[in-house]
Amino acid sequence: MPKTKPALYRPTSANLTRLANHLRRGGIVGVPSETVYGLAANALDASACARIFEAKGRPANDPLIVHLSRAAELHQVAITNPSADLLANAFWPGPLTLVLPKNKCVPDIVTSGRDTVAVRVPAHPLFRRLIRTCGFPLAAPSANPFGYISPTSAAHVRDSLGNTELRAILDGGDCTIGVESTIIDLSEPSRPRLLRPGGLAQEKIEAVLKQKILTAPAPKKQSSESAAPAPGMLPQHYSPHTPVKLHPSLAGDSIPQIPTNEAVLLLRRPNDKRLRKPNVFWLSPSGQLSVIAHNLFNQLRQLDQGAW
Ligand code: TXA
Ligand code: MG
Repeated sequence: MPKTKPALYRPTSANLTRLANHLRRGGIVGVPSETVYGLAANALDASACARIFEAKGRPANDPLIVHLSRAAELHQVAITNPSADLLANAFWPGPLTLVLPKNKCVPDIVTSGRDTVAVRVPAHPLFRRLIRTCGFPLAAPSANPFGYISPTSAAHVRDSLGNTELRAILDGGDCTIGVESTIIDLSEPSRPRLLRPGGLAQEKIEAVLKQKILTAPAPKKQSSESAAPAPGMLPQHYSPHTPVKLHPSLAGDSIPQIPTNEAVLLLRRPNDKRLRKPNVFWLSPSGQLSVIAHNLFNQLRQLDQGAW
């Protein structure tokens, strides 16, 4: 197995053709999306998809998302229904993944043996262009080692999957949204279920469906994988190597004396200038959620490297 870091490819036509050929031969490629970077393979080729699981160290019971270049291709991989068509029309291309009954052409490895498949049309134009150049859908989980913080730039992918079979990353700049897609299970269309909150707000989906969405219960601490409410929704996920403590109400004057070997990451810039210390960081100037989401994974990675 090669041990050098994978190369970043600029988005030229020649490079897209080169990467599509690599994917056609069963290779894996790091790809940009508006949510997080993905680790892509031909979704219809079981041995190519096996390389994704190997590179990520991902358990076989955690299924992959299949990415299409346009909503009109949905029926090629899944059995659609009016609610799915409604959401696809409203939100694709974009940060919404739909879980639907699968078509036979989707290999079992992609769905972890389930009879449903997760599908989305990404908004990032380069990702869609690559899928079109390939002529087949691309299965892609987030391009991080299993359990680690998701990547929001090509450099994140290169740095954390460097010692794997991955050789090539399409560089599409920083991810605009910065957190994963929202996943809705529509395999029972009358009972839409939120499997994972993400880049598209639940309220927006409910407004289009004109119906409330059921939310899956949060995974229990120390529960086994089989007890998780949905595959891949584990009690521990997106984890830095450094221990992280969540303080839901830590703000302003209530910030205690912080030891210099620890860092604090606030949602917004503190008004109190005494809190502007080398080990105090913030995710946004004014607390805007989209800005917080955009910066979250990058900031966690930087802090994990002890950069203060
Ligand atoms: O934004 C995103 O969704 C990114 C980009 C690359 O598209 N992808 C992503 O993939 O977050 P990943 O592998 O990190 O998360 C995929 C999750 C699984 O862990 C599981 O929760 C859910 O999608 N999933 C996939 N197939 C499913 C199925 N058949 N039934 C239920 N959940 C499924
Ligand atoms: Mg992931």
